[in-house]
Amino acid sequence: MSDQPVSPPSSGPLVDRFGRVADDLRISVTDRCNFRCTYCMPAEGLTWLPKSEILSFEELTRLLRVFVGLGVKSLKVTGGEPLVRADLATLVRMFRTVGPDLDISLTTNGVLLDQQAAGLAAAGVNRATVSVDSLLRHRFEEMTRRDALDKVLAGLRAAEAAGLTPIKINCVVIGGINDGELGDFARWSRETGYEVRFIEYMPLDAQHEWERAKVVPGAQILETINAEFPLAPVGNGSEPAALYRFADGAPGAIGVINSVTEPFCDTCNRLRLTAEGFVRACLFALEETELRAPMRSGATDDELAGLIRAAVWGKWPGHRVNHPDFVQPTRSMSMIGG
Ligand code: 5AD
Ligand code: SF4
Repeated sequence: MSDQPVSPPSSGPLVDRFGRVADDLRISVTDRCNFRCTYCMPAEGLTWLPKSEILSFEELTRLLRVFVGLGVKSLKVTGGEPLVRADLATLVRMFRTVGPDLDISLTTNGVLLDQQAAGLAAAGVNRATVSVDSLLRHRFEEMTRRDALDKVLAGLRAAEAAGLTPIKINCVVIGGINDGELGDFARWSRETGYEVRFIEYMPLDAQHEWERAKVVPGAQILETINAEFPLAPVGNGSEPAALYRFADGAPGAIGVINSVTEPFCDTCNRLRLTAEGFVRACLFALEETELRAPMRSGATDDELAGLIRAAVWGKWPGHRVNHPDFVQPTRSMSMIGG
């Protein structure tokens, strides 16, 4: 039998039973969103969490301090749509105080960036990742249920001007919908210098309409782009995105996040905190660890750290999307924060 310890270590990095170290935290600062992307949310009828259930700025900052004490090195501020949380820049400033060296990035739909990019950069955000699923106005509207492509493009320019660089683009590829635009995205990457990351469609949509047949494998995405614009791999450490540059030296980069066809669970270093204070060790986790109730009933930082250690320790070896027993989590992406 294995001689692995049966409980998490009480000091040192945040490890799980399989030796993976969690040092990349995503904090969902709100479950609300001003888009309704088809692969994430229903068109209507979603109820938002009441404010009392959402962690306050002070609570979020306190938890971040505990996470940083446990070795977290990078923070992604996500949602829902993080920019709809009132006064986000103030929260970022508080986060920055707790983690002066933390790499803080924003994962956003970009529609409010034209108003907020400068303030967020000044508050301490290092860079932005913006979702753009189509470069065609009508298809963008079809996929996000909002006619907002121009506003997002303006937001991207504001993010660039504010120095939230290098800018990354997230594009969820859905077969039969936007998979004809791969070459256009590559051309756009070369023109703008943005790193375009194509994400395989995952079973995390609120309506449970995901089908395997709609997943376009990352390998196929690369082949398509490579035929038009030859690509060369870039060595990329522990990033889940397999990254490529253009062989002719043009600016920009192409990434593929093959979560479904080539899961990267073995090297996963991620950890998530939901807007109401639950730790999720995996995007697809069916179990969560609550921090809000203990925190609100007087737990010490050490006790909270112990709960976080136990949550990471309990992380499973990998998601089960490709197994017959796969169960889709009840939370959709908007409630987890990609
Ligand atoms: N499959 C793949 N990616 C998704 N995202 C949201 N829902 C899904 C899904 N079902 C992406 C968003 C965003 C990131 C946080 O997660 O496009 O860029
Ligand atoms: Fe909003 Fe992001 Fe979900 Fe789209 S994917 S509905 S932008 S939370």
